[in-house]
Amino acid sequence: MKDQLEQIRSRALAELADDAAEAAIENVRVRVLGRSGELTEIMRRMREVPPEERPAIGQLVNQIKAELEARIEVLQGRLREAALERELAAARLDVTLPGAHLPRGRLHPVTQTIEEMLHIFRAMGFEIAATRDVEDDFHNFAALNFPPDHPAREMQDTFFIGGGLLLRTHTSNGQIRVMEARRPPLAVVCPGNCYRRDELSVRASPMFSQIEGFMVDRAGKITMAHLKGVLTEFLRAFFGAGTAVRFRASFFPFTEPSAEVDISCLLCAGKGCRVCKQSGWTEILGSGMIHPNVFRAVGYDPAEFQGFAFGLGVERTALLKLGVEDMRLFFENDLRFLNQFQATVERLA
Ligand code: PHE
Repeated sequence: MKDQLEQIRSRALAELADDAAEAAIENVRVRVLGRSGELTEIMRRMREVPPEERPAIGQLVNQIKAELEARIEVLQGRLREAALERELAAARLDVTLPGAHLPRGRLHPVTQTIEEMLHIFRAMGFEIAATRDVEDDFHNFAALNFPPDHPAREMQDTFFIGGGLLLRTHTSNGQIRVMEARRPPLAVVCPGNCYRRDELSVRASPMFSQIEGFMVDRAGKITMAHLKGVLTEFLRAFFGAGTAVRFRASFFPFTEPSAEVDISCLLCAGKGCRVCKQSGWTEILGSGMIHPNVFRAVGYDPAEFQGFAFGLGVERTALLKLGVEDMRLFFENDLRFLNQFQATVERLA
């Protein structure tokens, strides 16, 4: 039995040569060390061995076992290393190559314009409120003093979406939503998307953004003079200190009196050109003193409260400020166009 063990040992070691392949090593392991392998078989036949020889044989079996296991471990370790070397050589990494360039995005020019406007209003003490795009007739029209048969409600202007709901046609619903929920004093701006059934064209889009603003306090505290002061201040901060501002009487159902606000044409500085149709002025926003019926609709006593409101179209204003000639460019997401606008917002931060 001792001879037999020596034989198992020398055969296994011969097979476990330095250049033994992975499969050959595994073969030896299974054949010699496995659960029904040669060494296990010897142990099972230990009964046949005279009792006095058993310890020596047992020791020899353990020794051979340990020896072969160690040898296999060494060979497998070498194979693993070699495999790793091969892998590294194949996927050689040149750390001196320039990295993959991840272009950095920037905010859309319309978003930048909104942020810049909100920044100015915030500095003047206004808070910012988000209101909803999907509205009912009451908040978009009725509470804003639109008579039931007012043409603005008609299909040609409004997207009705069923269930008595519609897409807001202006951000003036923000006035109603905020005043319903709170009591004056209020100085709030509501930016947001608006929707009208217009074709996308050089000057118009079926979806556009507005910023609504309003200020309400006890009667006598907020007057038309404050409206003029706030809007003049805002327009000069946004378009430049030298900008001329003019207020023109106008009409909105939800303000009385109402005024449209013009600034001196940015292209000709008021001298008159093709863009301002030789007038020297460009219309920028609508405004006025909040109508008593609007206060009644939100449960305020018009004898007790007074205030002004205004609304301006962001895209139209951005066209002027950025010198863009076609509204459609804002909605096409052509990076060659969008990349031309520096991140104004980062400058504000
Ligand atoms: N909602 C008006 C519009 O869409 C703008 C406006 C708002 C006018 C508030 C006066 C007061 O044209």
